Amino acid sequence: MIIMKEIVKTYVTGQIKFQALKGIDLHVKKGEFIAIVGPSGSGKSTLMNIVGCLDVPSEGEYLLDGRLVNKLTANQLAEIRNRKVGFVFQAFNLLPYATAYENVEVPLLFAGVNRRARKERITHLLGQVGLADKAANKPTEMSGGEMQRVAIARALANEPDIILADEPTGNLDSKSGQQIVNIFQELWKLGKTVLIITHDTNIASRVERIVKLKDGLVDNNHNPL
Ligand SMILES: Nc1ncnc2c1ncn2[C@@H]1O[C@H](COP(=O)(O)OP(=O)(O)OP(=O)(O)O)[C@@H](O)[C@H]1O
Ligand SMILES: [Mg+2]
Repeated sequence: MIIMKEIVKTYVTGQIKFQALKGIDLHVKKGEFIAIVGPSGSGKSTLMNIVGCLDVPSEGEYLLDGRLVNKLTANQLAEIRNRKVGFVFQAFNLLPYATAYENVEVPLLFAGVNRRARKERITHLLGQVGLADKAANKPTEMSGGEMQRVAIARALANEPDIILADEPTGNLDSKSGQQIVNIFQELWKLGKTVLIITHDTNIASRVERIVKLKDGLVDNNHNPL
């Protein structure tokens, strides 16, 4: 599903060029459950942004479902993001003045889903993450773990094949973090491809495969246990 060959990402800030990824080779099969680990600054979020088509590589080839992402237009990239990929972030990134229901509704509105189908889908999604009774709550009226579960429901709205999560438990206590990991594990069992960036050894111990980054490269010498 994901094939990356010699991916390089160079950021240019004023006069300074910085190579955040220095030649990444990564293959991910459909339905894999992967943790991406590595020190701060090693390029994890940069890699995730490229996988999710939020950003494009400076060099190298990225094939997503057999399509060469490098050659796509901005509109085609946006289409892939909306249909294929669900994102979950450390800081939840919910709309602060909208209810749980309305937050999950946003991607469905963008996708042009009618009101009745939206209602059915949102009710199902909030139930799936255990928040059937919090539909009317705003982010300020929920716990961190609940906010993250709303964010997961939102990420699932358009039935993406791939779930990408960047430190999804970074702002949560261990119990709420566990619930979040359980949800990712269920999604994987339902056939989703799940990639989680994490420092949490507990999450890393529950995935199928660990990819370690070090200084912008995949560290193949790393012993996962
Ligand atoms: N937009 C940007 N412009 C310039 N440099 C950037 C940009 N984004 C990231 N970098 C640099 O690229 C390197 C990799 O950043 P990245 O965010 O991918 O690291 P990370 O592994 O996710 O780290 P952390 O664990 O702290 O989140 C860092 O040195 C960072 O300073
Ligand atoms: Mg990061």
